Amino acid sequence: MNVSLIFVVILLNVIKESVLVSIRNDKVLVNRPFNNRSSSPTNFEHFRRKRYLGLSKRFKINKRYQECVAPDDAKGHCKHLIFCPMHVLKNAKNVLDYLCVIERMHVGVCCPDDIALSGLAGSQIISDLPGGGDDYDEKDNTTGCGIPIEGNPGGKKSIGQQWPWIAALYRPKEMAQGLEQQFCGGSVITEYHILTAAHCTLGLTADEIRVRLGEYNFAQANESRSVDHIVESITDHEDFDKATYANDISIIKLRTATSFNSYIWPICLPPIDRDFVNEVAIVAGWGQVYYAGPVSEVLRHVEVPVWTLEKCANSFLQRITDSNLCAAGYDGGKDSCLGDSGGPLMFQLENGRWITIGIVSWGIGCGNKGSPGIYTKVSSYIPWIIKNTIAK
Ligand code: ARG
Repeated sequence: MNVSLIFVVILLNVIKESVLVSIRNDKVLVNRPFNNRSSSPTNFEHFRRKRYLGLSKRFKINKRYQECVAPDDAKGHCKHLIFCPMHVLKNAKNVLDYLCVIERMHVGVCCPDDIALSGLAGSQIISDLPGGGDDYDEKDNTTGCGIPIEGNPGGKKSIGQQWPWIAALYRPKEMAQGLEQQFCGGSVITEYHILTAAHCTLGLTADEIRVRLGEYNFAQANESRSVDHIVESITDHEDFDKATYANDISIIKLRTATSFNSYIWPICLPPIDRDFVNEVAIVAGWGQVYYAGPVSEVLRHVEVPVWTLEKCANSFLQRITDSNLCAAGYDGGKDSCLGDSGGPLMFQLENGRWITIGIVSWGIGCGNKGSPGIYTKVSSYIPWIIKNTIAK
C-alpha cells in the first residue's frame, strides 16, 4: 500500500467515523422552515450560538488547519476548498489523495503553503462550491446554494419555482416520437453539473440525453422558463453495480453553463457529519403517480420520513448498506416511484437552506407499507462528487 493510498483510507475512515458517531435517533419528526422554530426559543438560541462559534459566516474562514502533504510533496495545510486555487488540484494525479477533514466536519484539501491566495477570499461564486449548506450565516438568505430566490419582487414564488434545482432527463428521440416525457430526475449542484443516479445514465451516450432545467409542467409550453441543455459528458460511479445498485450515483456535465434565476438554482450538498434518520425529507419528481401507473405531467413532491438503517435492512432481502438512505411513509402511500430516479431527496436545514441527502435509486413496487424507497446517501460520496466536479 503506498502512502497516498494510506492517506485516502485514513481520510475515508475519519469521514465514516464522523458519520457514525452522530447518529441521532431521538429527533422528533419535524422539518419546519427556520422561521417557524420560534416556538422553541431555547433550541433556537442554542443553535444560533453554536453556529456563530463555528465556520458559519457567509464564506468559510480562510484559515490553515492541520499540516499535511500537498501535491508535488509540497508542505501544505488543510484548507476549505474555496481557498485553494483549483489549478493546484488539477495538476494532482489523484485529487482524492489530497482531501482532508476539517474539524471532523468539512471536506478540505491539502493546499500548498507557498501560493499567493490573497484576493481569493470571498470572491468565489456559488457555482464553484458544491458546499455543505451548513456553512452559511443564517442572516444571509439571498445568496448561495439551496435558497430559491424569490420570483417577481412583491409577488409570491410560483409553484414552478418551488424546487428550482430539479432537472429532468429526457431522451430527445423518444420525446420527439411521443414515447416518453422524461425518464429520470437529477439535481443542479453547480452551473455545469447535475447529480443523478448511475442506473439512469448507464448505457446512454451524452448525445442520447438532454437535461431540462426550470421545468414544471411538461404538458404546457411557456409556463416556466425551462431551458434544455446538451450533455457534455457523463461520469458514472466506477463501482456502480447494476445487479445490486450499489454506488448508484452519476454526474452529468452540461456543455454550456446554465444561468441561475428564480427557476434554476443549485441545491446544497449535505454536511458529512449528520445523519437524517427520523427527519422528514421531501422527494420530488415527474415519475409514476402509483406503481405501473402513468407518469405525472407536473412536478410532484411528497414528504417522507427517513428510516433507521436497521428498520430498512429488515424490510429487504437485498443488502442495504450505510451508503444508502431509506425513506417512505411508515403507513405506505408516500414514496417515490419509477421515473423519479436520480432526483433528490431534499431536506431543509435549520438555516433555511435545502440540501440533497439522497438520490432516488430503487424500491420494490411503490408506496407499499413496510417497503421504503432506497436512496443513494449523498453524504457518503462528497469526495467523489468533488473529484468529479470542481476538481476536474
Ligand atoms: N428505479 C426507479 C427509477 O428508475 C426508482 C424506483 C423508486 N422506487 C421506490 N419505490 N421508491 O425511476
